[in-house]
Amino acid sequence: MASAFPILQDPGFGVYVHWPFCLSKCPYCDFNSHVRREGVDEKRFLDAFKAELKHRAALTPGREVRSIFFGGGTPSLMKPETVAGIIEAIGQNWHIDPQAEITLEANPTSVEATRFRGYRSAGVNRVSLGVQAMNDKDLKALGRMHTAEEAFRAVDIAASTFDRSSFDLIYARPGQSPQDWAKELTAALERAPEHLSLYQLTIEPDTMFEQLFNAGKLKTPDVETARELWDVTQELTARFGMPAYEISNHARPGGESRHNLIYWRYGEYVGVGPGAHGRILTPKGLRRAQATEPHPEMWLTIVESDGHGLVEDETLSMEAQGDEFLLMGLRLSEGIDPARFQALTGRRFEASRVADLIAHGMVEYTRQGRIRVTSEGFPVLDAVVADLAA
Ligand SMILES: C[S@@+](CC[C@H](N)C(=O)[O-])C[C@H]1O[C@@H](n2cnc3c(N)ncnc32)[C@H](O)[C@@H]1O
Ligand code: SF4
Repeated sequence: MASAFPILQDPGFGVYVHWPFCLSKCPYCDFNSHVRREGVDEKRFLDAFKAELKHRAALTPGREVRSIFFGGGTPSLMKPETVAGIIEAIGQNWHIDPQAEITLEANPTSVEATRFRGYRSAGVNRVSLGVQAMNDKDLKALGRMHTAEEAFRAVDIAASTFDRSSFDLIYARPGQSPQDWAKELTAALERAPEHLSLYQLTIEPDTMFEQLFNAGKLKTPDVETARELWDVTQELTARFGMPAYEISNHARPGGESRHNLIYWRYGEYVGVGPGAHGRILTPKGLRRAQATEPHPEMWLTIVESDGHGLVEDETLSMEAQGDEFLLMGLRLSEGIDPARFQALTGRRFEASRVADLIAHGMVEYTRQGRIRVTSEGFPVLDAVVADLAA
């Protein structure tokens, strides 16, 4: 099913803000997140964010901001004044669309009604909560510091404070059977706001889970069970009116994450803060791939001396743009427009490759002539993308 959020010619322009701190490090997580028991000098970070925003605005004059996303780390550890200061600075550097989606990621351990009202006053209109599991035993196994009860409370506070909200769950956990997951997911769908992110547990490099996995102390579901878990997910979410619009993201029609759609539709965005990525258009229409220094205090020092924290800034070749476009766009149930692939790369898809993938039931053409991955293709998405890109 295609996304209800209209496919626009121009996927839009967004601003990503990375807050790199957490109360503790979860054993499965390889995001750029750090624990600072001594506290964080938010004023100093705010000034550095302002400097980076000014720097990026000079590279993207005249754009209209269609979405802002505070990701982490745990942005719900930020003071509402810091969030307000960043949104204000974005408004001083670009025009913000009055309908812009402004999302903040929150961890249930740091959710309080007053703090949430502070974010709302700052301009945030959507919250994405990291619930991860719906029972205490599994939350503990995931190393989470909150209980299921606290998570449900946070979901309720989010829904009563903001017009739009979402929560994340991690499935395909050690020992999780398809029956367990079906029960848990049903409970989640009964509480779900307009959007849910459902991620299969991945064993990421350099995490505690990787060490346990390599030592044989942690087992993830085998391929058949993982496939059953995937099927249960697709079936139940569709039944509850929240089909996947992206491989791990589900929404009621119109409830899609507009910010993430900018990434998946290969639009333009700047990223500020430690370890943030951006893709901005050059005057010739090519893309600059940008990334900042990931270490928080190092990033501060660089921004304070240079006015920005970029450590990578390269113009992508047409070929590299084509690869990224496929990698992003084929995650979406709406698929991709072959004409845009041709415009980005200067070449067409190899007809025999597309025909082969169709014959194997991996991709299909939509009525609008877009190419999308089928439900058979999604569990092996990486292979499908590699085949089409070759
Ligand atoms: C940047 S984190 C999130 C937000 C917040 N700090 C929290 O944990 O509640 C974004 C999401 O990625 C997912 N995630 C992180 N590591 C993962 C992994 N190894 N496998 C699957 N999902 C993962 C989690 O669902 C998490 O909520
Ligand atoms: S999952 Fe969230 S809270 Fe846990 S370490 Fe990663 S970013 Fe921090």
